[in-house]
Amino acid sequence: MPVVEKSNNIVSETLSFTGILQNGGKKVYIETYGCQMNVNDSEVVMAILKGSGFNYTEATEDADLILINTCSIRDNAEQRVRGRLNYFRSIKKKKPELLVGVLGCMAERLKEKLLEEEKIVDIVVGPDAYRDLPALVREAGTGQKAINVLLSREETYADISPVRYDSNGISAFVSIMRGCNNMCSYCVVPYTRGAERSRDPQTILREVQELTNNGFKEVTLLGQNVDSYLWKQDDQNTTFAQLLEMVAQLNPLLRVRFSTSHPKDLTNEVLHMIANYPNICKSIHLPAQSGSSRVLELMKRGYTREWYLSRVEAIKRIIPECAITTDIIAGFCGETEEDHQQTLSLIKEVGYDFAFMFKYSERPKTYAQRKYTDDVPEEVKSRRLQEIIDVQHEISEQTKLNYLGKEYEVLVEGVSKKSKHELFGRTTHNQVVVFPSDTHNVGDYVRV
Ligand code: 5AD
Ligand code: SF4
Repeated sequence: MPVVEKSNNIVSETLSFTGILQNGGKKVYIETYGCQMNVNDSEVVMAILKGSGFNYTEATEDADLILINTCSIRDNAEQRVRGRLNYFRSIKKKKPELLVGVLGCMAERLKEKLLEEEKIVDIVVGPDAYRDLPALVREAGTGQKAINVLLSREETYADISPVRYDSNGISAFVSIMRGCNNMCSYCVVPYTRGAERSRDPQTILREVQELTNNGFKEVTLLGQNVDSYLWKQDDQNTTFAQLLEMVAQLNPLLRVRFSTSHPKDLTNEVLHMIANYPNICKSIHLPAQSGSSRVLELMKRGYTREWYLSRVEAIKRIIPECAITTDIIAGFCGETEEDHQQTLSLIKEVGYDFAFMFKYSERPKTYAQRKYTDDVPEEVKSRRLQEIIDVQHEISEQTKLNYLGKEYEVLVEGVSKKSKHELFGRTTHNQVVVFPSDTHNVGDYVRV
């Protein structure tokens, strides 16, 4: 019998030789949608399945098990997943013993409904139940549908070394916390990923050390709201600023990035830490969502336009030449033309390096879906989004011009697709740089 233990109310299976014998040679293909967090979750899933005898395959046709790690953030993210499930159906027709599993946020949001709606799906697993996957796969192998969507207050997969199956060998994501307590009125994440919990800093340091030992040169510390990271042990607290410092001190040649910062929680202590350590990258992702205080209040973001701008001012004061990027939502419930103009003016005032820009998409169960009316017509949302994109495009061009004629250190990530005599990599500001070179290698730091 495989070793089964109870943890966090989830039946979990530790690595067992029985598992390896049972699944020896079985191949798993995994596809990931949504955020960086999901990319890292898929690596955790691969580690769990590898411990149970599965091997990774890049080809859907070779797979005995196809997993799709999903996102629920906007309706179109879910529609894309449904499209992929349709494609997997055609594979399963030719190979009836193939198992298909849905992981992640969509699994958590839809639960059993997913099994009813998508007959092709055999396994449904929420973000906190991945340790249960080997047992669920075995159950599905007997012809039963298998599901575990229990959320946990403790699970951080702290002890699992993610398998970097689709990596450039240079940069890696490291989760430092899971879940979210913010309850922004538009957002489904607190429902799909549960309550916020931080990961033991010692396990984070161990993972980062292991990565550097294996030649990795860059880590991105991940959390829905990294500024609220807090680990309490024996009357001693570790804050995000302290964690950042501990990671930065591990190796001066390791670049450290992090995402996502929340404007209401970003402290000057963190900003000083970024300024003090050359290996902490000078780039902050600070989602604004809107430039109108009235809309921000409806969104329950916990800050005003003025507060947001004061944080931007602090970044620019404490960290000279820091890149700032953002997320913007167009057409939230009740957004007027005046609110929209304020968003456009915020974008110009901050001068973002880059922005992710979205149309508002109503999500079931959220505060906005229950209490507000999704009242901005689709064509108005589209027009406003286009105006936001156009303004940001112009700003991005201007910020790029500011870098022109200067010298930056680039961490080489690969060979350019256009020419094998050109390499590409990123600056501390996360700007991609392509440059001619026949002498440098992937993983080198090059002054360009
Ligand atoms: N509709 C549109 N965009 C959304 N986001 C989150 N929820 C929604 C929604 N319901 C955006 C936010 C967030 C990013 C990850 O996705 O901008 O920062
Ligand atoms: Fe990530 Fe949010 Fe999408 Fe879940 S819903 S995958 S947390 S972006």
